[in-house]
Amino acid sequence: MILDGTLEASVQAAAVALQQGRLLGLPTETVYGLAADSDNDAAVAQIFAAKGRPANHPLIVHVADAAAITRYAKEVPVFAQQLIDAFWPGPLTLILPRLPHAAKASTGGQDSVGLRCPSHPVAHAVLQACQQLDPPVWGVSAPSANKFGRVSPTTAEHVATEFGEELLVLDGGACEVGIESTIVDCTRGVPVLLRPGAITRDDIAHACGQRPLSKEELSANTPRASGTLLAHYAPNAKVRLMDARQLQSALDILGSEGKNIAVYHRSPLKCTAKGIALRAMPQQALATARELFGTLRDFDETGAQLIWIETPPDTADWEGVRDRLQRAAAAG
Ligand code: TXA
Ligand code: MG
Repeated sequence: MILDGTLEASVQAAAVALQQGRLLGLPTETVYGLAADSDNDAAVAQIFAAKGRPANHPLIVHVADAAAITRYAKEVPVFAQQLIDAFWPGPLTLILPRLPHAAKASTGGQDSVGLRCPSHPVAHAVLQACQQLDPPVWGVSAPSANKFGRVSPTTAEHVATEFGEELLVLDGGACEVGIESTIVDCTRGVPVLLRPGAITRDDIAHACGQRPLSKEELSANTPRASGTLLAHYAPNAKVRLMDARQLQSALDILGSEGKNIAVYHRSPLKCTAKGIALRAMPQQALATARELFGTLRDFDETGAQLIWIETPPDTADWEGVRDRLQRAAAAG
């Protein structure tokens, strides 16, 4: 059932549903989440079951404000606090050392916890309402509201399509950011970028004075994380990334024969085949992120078997989009 997330009664009903151990489709500024009370292990288990997600892939705990950190994290390094001050509420998740009894199932028993304070007004209203309940709900665990490995949802309808009518979904409109939050691991003494997003490597360096390492630069084992698996975010069609020249050559080879192919391009292209859907990628990374997952879903709906995408520039602002595209391509 989809409720209007801008109504106070819907927000209250959603908070009570979470308190009672039920699942909720929750809008955030990044993507829609499949939410449950972080400290209710049975409710959290339902998230893993509904998504088909392995239980050792930890979930992000969403909080109403920075004060709620102390309920989940043992300590906050100085650079992490600088990132919180700069970017919360917003699309940034921090991995921090976990308090022993907090959010056990949600973190897959790891000794760290991922925390995020979303800026979406509906998410914020739900998290605040949760804190006011008796007993309060301090943290809301929410992975992206899609089946494991699939494209993340950016509208309430996407969530309803994925999980059916029984799921309570708050409609908060189309997500502004469109790709999942940037994740920074703050448990290793230096910031480590686990997942790029709208808050870029440059933004992080600017806010805390340290350029984040990539996970490849770390020698120690990083925890399992489905949002960081090589093959993820996959539409049904096979995705291939190409530069502008390769893309044009592939179209030239097809001539007028091509069909069931969707092309998401940046450079001008010549294409004679009628069965090829062309779509221009926005010039800006943020605008592309906003429409990316919806575009992949649209391509699937047109029955495309192949999706050819022009590789975006190799610059910090495009890192989040490039990452999602590379992983969609790896799934094929
Ligand atoms: O934008 C977002 O982050 C969205 C919205 C709903 O907030 N959520 C989201 O959740 O993308 P999910 O479950 O699809 O991705 C969460 C990722 C995990 O795959 C993992 O990479 C990381 O967060 N994560 C969470 N807790 C962690 C931990 N303790 N250690 C390492 N990584 C963790
Ligand atoms: Mg996900």
